[in-house]
Amino acid sequence: MLNNRFGVNEKGNLTIGGVDTVELANAYGTPLYVFDENDIRNNCREFKGAFEKHYNSNAQVYYASKAFSCKEMYRLVNSEGLGVDVVSGGELYTALSVGFPADKIGFHGNNKTKDELIFALKSNVGHIIVDNFTELELLNGLAKELSKKPDILLRIKPGIDCHTHEYIKTATIDCKFGFALENGEAEEALKAACQAENLNLVGIHCHIGSQIFEKQPFIDAPEIMVSLAKRVQQKFGKTLTEINFGGGFGIKYTKNDTPVAKDEMIMELCAAVKTACKKYEFPLPKLSIEPGRSIVGDATLTLYTIGNIKTIENVRTYVSVDGGMTDNPRYALYGAEYEAVVANKANKPRDFVATIAGRCCESGDLIQEHTKIQTPKAGDILAVLSTGAYNYSMASNYNRVPRPAAVMVNNGKSREIIKRETYEDIISKDI
Ligand code: LLP
Repeated sequence: MLNNRFGVNEKGNLTIGGVDTVELANAYGTPLYVFDENDIRNNCREFKGAFEKHYNSNAQVYYASKAFSCKEMYRLVNSEGLGVDVVSGGELYTALSVGFPADKIGFHGNNKTKDELIFALKSNVGHIIVDNFTELELLNGLAKELSKKPDILLRIKPGIDCHTHEYIKTATIDCKFGFALENGEAEEALKAACQAENLNLVGIHCHIGSQIFEKQPFIDAPEIMVSLAKRVQQKFGKTLTEINFGGGFGIKYTKNDTPVAKDEMIMELCAAVKTACKKYEFPLPKLSIEPGRSIVGDATLTLYTIGNIKTIENVRTYVSVDGGMTDNPRYALYGAEYEAVVANKANKPRDFVATIAGRCCESGDLIQEHTKIQTPKAGDILAVLSTGAYNYSMASNYNRVPRPAAVMVNNGKSREIIKRETYEDIISKDI
């Protein structure tokens, strides 16, 4: 099996969190997202523990809730003492709806609307990560109107390249997010932020990219960011007290993936921050990160029912499931790799080469091509592993397919955390 999060019981069925996935499929229907609560909690604790071990108590882990956002997820990360990164009014609203402490919310976005900024200001979010000059000016004005003085961080593009998919690289100059270092934009913005009367500049932020397996970008970023903080101190007389290094820590989707352990990654990051602070004689800042995928990605699977199996001689076999790009668009978007298992035959060898197809009117609606699964037949349950991040959150109603339900499992028990959409839900906004 891909990792020890998933098991096989005496019936030969795949299990997650001690629960039989075939029983879950029978009880809740398919497609179904299944999240393992203990695994998510352990992921949170590993990050928190690593900072306690390698840094000091002046550190904060913000869960990047774009990876998977729903009420129960905000409750869960709150109970683990994490903050959250929200990137829209919708995520902010969901977090606040369950009483998530506003002071532990960071508000992101490269094109926040005026209404969203007002919402964030009125909610007294902990900080707003300002992306561009337009926002800086708009926020300064709105803060004045509302008699607020929000803490802000500026999003910096540190000019670090990393080896990941083009669509999820975010730290080079040709990127829509943040202020570039190379052309002086970052310093200009920092100067303007220091001068903005209604804003309280507390720090700087960078996010290198997503699904990163290398340590080097997280070793290089502190040198760049601390030296920038030093320049701000020298040139503008302001000592920044927080540096946020974003998320991006890779996870294991297939056997070929080799993520760095969380503890090791954080150890390297903390060591690099300490080294840079010593070099530049800069006080150790509050250190923060925003992991999304590595909190929720590998603690999850999606269950489908297999329907039509179409073998095209000398071409391939399409194994169609009752979901697809509507609940997991990541293969269509990025060619993302996943492992799949026939859940009711999990003890059998995976010796059948299948292309797993969805049910949308779209040839590109595939979950995976030429992947090995157990010999399937219609009615079998197919599990696609490690689907917790950027699946439900990127799901759509294309072809008016209702979004699946989600359940959380914990020590042999399951509970629904998101209901399955109904046809009535689908037409509920139509006039
Ligand atoms: N912080 C910022 C500012 C971000 O933009 C992101 C992700 C994160 C943190 C969390 O990154 P993570 O730890 O999850 O890698 N839809 C794509 C991923 C997009 C990532 C967007 N930003 C995918 O399915 O791979």
